[in-house]
Amino acid sequence: MITLVGVGQVGMACAISILAKSLAHELARVDVLEDKLKGEMMDLQNGSLFPQTPKIVADKDYSVTANSKIVVVTAGLCQQQGDSWLNLVQKNVNVFKFIIPQVVKYSPDCILIMVSNPVDILTYVTWKLSGLRKHRMIGSRCNLNSARFSYLMAKTLGSHPSSCHGWILGEYGDSSVAVWSGVNVTSVSLQELNPEMGIDNNSENWKEVSTSGSAPSEESA
Ligand SMILES: NC(=O)c1ccc[n+]([C@@H]2O[C@H](COP(=O)([O-])OP(=O)(O)OC[C@H]3O[C@@H](n4cnc5c(N)ncnc54)[C@H](O)[C@@H]3O)[C@@H](O)[C@H]2O)c1
Repeated sequence: MITLVGVGQVGMACAISILAKSLAHELARVDVLEDKLKGEMMDLQNGSLFPQTPKIVADKDYSVTANSKIVVVTAGLCQQQGDSWLNLVQKNVNVFKFIIPQVVKYSPDCILIMVSNPVDILTYVTWKLSGLRKHRMIGSRCNLNSARFSYLMAKTLGSHPSSCHGWILGEYGDSSVAVWSGVNVTSVSLQELNPEMGIDNNSENWKEVSTSGSAPSEESA
């Protein structure tokens, strides 16, 4: 069984991905919003002719999650305008103080995958709150940024993202960085072709790809 905590936008995207790939025989969903939980559960159940997941359950009570192998946590509050990152930490730590003990109570052998932000801090907090060994904690970290980086690189070079490799490392957020020495297209290092790649004021503007999420102009590349 896989459990998803949080039925927001990210929670629903995870649910659809799990079902589409037939990753579990049972999917459990938990949230504090009872009506939304019920509505989304019915939507997924009504479409269950297509994926190979026979049992889809949802409840506010964590007993429905019992014996999950994997628990993905997407619950929590998002950063509002004017809200500091630190303020968000405190709010989501309070949310996690409720969620994590319930998860571990019913699934003491699970692997926890953390998505809620600030994801690196909350992965550490979850480890402390859970009492589980650290190899059971996985934070989504900068995976999404790295995937976006590959996509933007591909868009710029007229290639496919599966051929373009680049990693964004560090804490998820403003301080993460691109590892320019590792950026390659089908193993061809782009930094060897352009040693100025990624530095400030580089005419090809590659730094923009990793920091603002926009592609450098196609003419310049
Ligand atoms: N790591 C990443 O790459 C990444 C990417 C996108 C979003 N996120 C983060 O994922 C989280 C979810 O984003 P979203 O867009 O789905 O938000 P959302 O607001 O749509 O959903 C959050 C859900 O959490 C639920 N929730 C709040 N308190 C709860 C509690 N005590 N128990 C159970 N559920 C509770 C809410 O009811 C809501 O349904 C955010 O923290 C967001 O910043 C991370």
